[in-house]
Amino acid sequence: MTRSVVRGIGSALPRRIMKNAEFEKLVDTTDEWIVQRTGIRQRHIASEDETTASLGEAAARAALDSAGLTPADIDMIILATSTPNNTFPATAVEIQERLGMSGGFAFDMQAVCSGFVYAITTADLYIRGGQAKRMLVIGSETFSRILDWNDRTTCVLFGDGAGAVVLEAEDGEAALEQRGVIASSLRSDGSQRDKLYVDGGPSTTCTVGHLRMQGREVFKHAVGMITDVIEDVFDKAGITAEDIDWFVPHQANRRIIDASAKKLGIAEEKVVVTVDLHGNTSAASVPLALSVAVERGQIKKGDLVLLEAMGGGFTWGAVLVRW
Ligand code: ACO
Repeated sequence: MTRSVVRGIGSALPRRIMKNAEFEKLVDTTDEWIVQRTGIRQRHIASEDETTASLGEAAARAALDSAGLTPADIDMIILATSTPNNTFPATAVEIQERLGMSGGFAFDMQAVCSGFVYAITTADLYIRGGQAKRMLVIGSETFSRILDWNDRTTCVLFGDGAGAVVLEAEDGEAALEQRGVIASSLRSDGSQRDKLYVDGGPSTTCTVGHLRMQGREVFKHAVGMITDVIEDVFDKAGITAEDIDWFVPHQANRRIIDASAKKLGIAEEKVVVTVDLHGNTSAASVPLALSVAVERGQIKKGDLVLLEAMGGGFTWGAVLVRW
């Protein structure tokens, strides 16, 4: 039997930081409204020379450094993104080339904000199925490029960035006391896709389009969806909220994070929060938050870490990892 162990983690952020106050000059909003409704204080915005591929590459290199590995050690890349450099080929293959990898294989995964949770679940199956030994699982986004900068209900919420982990196959069954991915649960519901979508695409409008969201509707569904998959993961692993060392939720809105933790009975001091620093970075949000938590000295080897995300589709999911 094989299990998937986290061997390294890294992240990358665009140089430019945009504070809430800057939006006061663009749309009818205030720093106070944004902080109170979302918990966001700033976000990073990609400059022209910074792309999903360049940020993903930088995060991947940082993860490889922390693992003490080189690109030659990697046999597979999954990139979770909804903002690829091009419609095709997959941005993952561009990252493969940028890293100087001549072997292995790479592909993109699209589940919007749940992308990283979907990608780590998929990666774990490839490892357990014997298809890969060491892989990069990356979440990288440049949502600033698909925002309608005149729409105050969406443009204040998102940011750009990337995070990556190196997963490695180790002998032994996935078990609660062992390091590695222990359990996961994924869901989607396409009947809700008009709540959060992009109004363009190659096969419909031949354009890239802009993000559209019925924020209140997303908010209404969020806590229920999140707790549904987390309870499934708890059941699969035979644990309760008290057993968790760290909760790393998707960083979309502080109020959703707090309400989910409260409903699940997860203590406040176990919740990793970075939404204030990065805004919602979609598929990059969970690996970025993980990376910050490791840097802060919060998450340590052997800790039981619960990841969760929800986003457009709707898609949602949770993963339990012994770090
Ligand atoms: N500044 C000032 N006022 C604003 C702004 C703004 N930036 N945006 C909206 N408002 C106004 C609205 O127009 C509305 O005014 P009205 O009452 O006159 O109509 C009022 O504020 C309240 O609007 P609501 O939408 O009810 O505000 P709410 O408290 O729901 O907060 C928010 C909005 C922050 C978008 C919230 O609904 C939310 O976080 N939703 C979930 C988003 C999310 O989690 N997304 C995750 C997935 S993301 C992905 O998959 C890509």
